[in-house]
Amino acid sequence: MTSSSLPSVTSANLTLAELRQILRTDLVACRQSTLSLTKQLTTAEFRQQSHPDFSPVGWHLGHIAFTESLWLLEHLKEDACAEPQYQTLFAADGLPKAERENLPALADILTYLQTVRDRTLTYLETAPLYDQLRLWRWILQHESQHAETATYVLAMHRWPSPAGEITAAAPVRPTSLNPAVDSTNMVLVPAGETIMGSDTLDAMDNERTAHAVTTAAYWIDRTPVTVAAYRQFILAGGYQNSQWWQPDGWQWVQQNQLHQPRYWRDEPGLETTPVCGVSWYEADAYACFVGKRLPTEAEWERAARWQPSQGTASMPWGEAAIAAYHGNFGGQWGGVSPVGQFPAGRSPSGCDDLLGNVWEWTDSWFEPYAGFTAYPYRGYSQAYFDRTHRVLRGGSWATRPWVLRPAFRNWYQPEVRQLFAGFRCVLRT
Ligand code: AVJ
Ligand code: FE
Repeated sequence: MTSSSLPSVTSANLTLAELRQILRTDLVACRQSTLSLTKQLTTAEFRQQSHPDFSPVGWHLGHIAFTESLWLLEHLKEDACAEPQYQTLFAADGLPKAERENLPALADILTYLQTVRDRTLTYLETAPLYDQLRLWRWILQHESQHAETATYVLAMHRWPSPAGEITAAAPVRPTSLNPAVDSTNMVLVPAGETIMGSDTLDAMDNERTAHAVTTAAYWIDRTPVTVAAYRQFILAGGYQNSQWWQPDGWQWVQQNQLHQPRYWRDEPGLETTPVCGVSWYEADAYACFVGKRLPTEAEWERAARWQPSQGTASMPWGEAAIAAYHGNFGGQWGGVSPVGQFPAGRSPSGCDDLLGNVWEWTDSWFEPYAGFTAYPYRGYSQAYFDRTHRVLRGGSWATRPWVLRPAFRNWYQPEVRQLFAGFRCVLRT
């Protein structure tokens, strides 16, 4: 097993001062991008749900502060609760989502975030980091995930305005695009063994423990399915024909009278972007329509990590930490990008757009790996090992770098289409 996706953090020979410095830089950068979401937020966007299954943006902000306070200040530092009046409102198990609209003012939540952060950064100066690093890294990833979810909530509030303004005041896009790769291409991944999962410090509980898996040979789409490709499914009456759908998926399509993905945008210039805003049901139906299927997690992870000469790597390109030129993530592009724009992010198997652009549905249920131990609490992963959640891999254009790695597992129920999710397909040899 090779080293971490963040070698700088997990290599053993870092001094305490260096670890502190890295952590501080990461926490500050992550927070800066969270706060950028709060600029130009209307009261409705701040306070209201945009979908019954999702909490308001303001709740996510308060929950980020609450969780940081709970784990770093109460558990590690053994401080009293920072703002006890917020406990019920912002705890994960506090209130039903529909009751999370009764929020303090944005200014008060910003103060709450700042109060907690001032204390955690002060504590960071003296904290016994060698014993605590895993929890600090978890907090960074927790904020990353909630901020991304807040982006979905905003995208729904603002739809059909383009999402770009949500994450970047001026999205950074190249002036000329690379010639689009042939998205109809599939690449052959030979049979063999891959390491799946991770035991590094950054790994979430559900990524542990790292283990070898053997897969038969398969073909996998070089890129996520594009708007142009998915359009064929729509035009062929895919949403009106039960033959492509799982029975429960078909029932769901009819009940909700659906006829296109949640963030469907079929406009000139966007044909080569990945389809975004599909449920697992839609991804599975499309795969069936084209005579393919969704990859298993093992197939997806092998396509991303397998290195013909060196076994399994942490990242598609090897061991280096992720950088902006590796993919469309962190909101820099301000939306989905045409596939194949980041050749530096290509895996040796030949797959593009693995990390960033859109999350990718897999065929696998969210289940524990052998040796699973819940961390830091049962409700993080374990509560979802219920065979009603499917795993997604890879990350979206809004995903922060701290959760971008091939081993990272995301999970949602098969009817959820509000996240920035697409998919790629596989074919047996
Ligand atoms: C992994 C994105 C499904 O937001 O529900 C955040 C992550 N867990 N706080 C979610 C999570 C607890 C989780 N997802
Ligand atoms: Fe949370």
